[in-house]
Amino acid sequence: MARLNVNGAVRDFEAEGDTPLLWVLREQLGLTGTKYGCGIAACGACTVHIDGVPTRSCVRPVSTVGPNEKIVTIEGLSPDGSHPVQKAWVALDVPQCGYCQCGMVMAATALLRDKPQPTDRDIDEAITNICRCGTYNRIRAAIKVVAAGGNTKTAGLAIQHTDGSTT
Ligand code: FES
Ligand code: FES
Repeated sequence: MARLNVNGAVRDFEAEGDTPLLWVLREQLGLTGTKYGCGIAACGACTVHIDGVPTRSCVRPVSTVGPNEKIVTIEGLSPDGSHPVQKAWVALDVPQCGYCQCGMVMAATALLRDKPQPTDRDIDEAITNICRCGTYNRIRAAIKVVAAGGNTKTAGLAIQHTDGSTT
């Protein structure tokens, strides 16, 4: 029996020590928001925070995560999708297929916590996740909306939605 601190709760589980954290989160603890994409730390779909640090959980052996290190997954970001990053993602219709987006949101959240007004270069350096649908421009725009306090007009963006409306 081993123990993790996930989304503010102590969770017990059983797994071999070299099991990637991703699989403990998904299969033992039922937190399936965190996705498997590549398994080699290349795509970022599996990004969670460990003590605030965005971490690719597919290559992190669970035995290397201490019981007092605080893991936050997409499920722990907010109880109702009300985190400013999540709200900006919705406002700008960022996801396409959605598969990469939980990892993107976790990476963006860490960036905006450390740099509330990120430059394009900051965004390029922090968001190294891969999106097969090519939502990179909307991700960049959503990050700028959060930096502008959630206001798309203040962010200097004119977003045309699929229903024809603009914000
Ligand atoms: S699944 Fe972990 S980086 Fe791709
Ligand atoms: S939205 Fe489809 S992979 Fe990113």
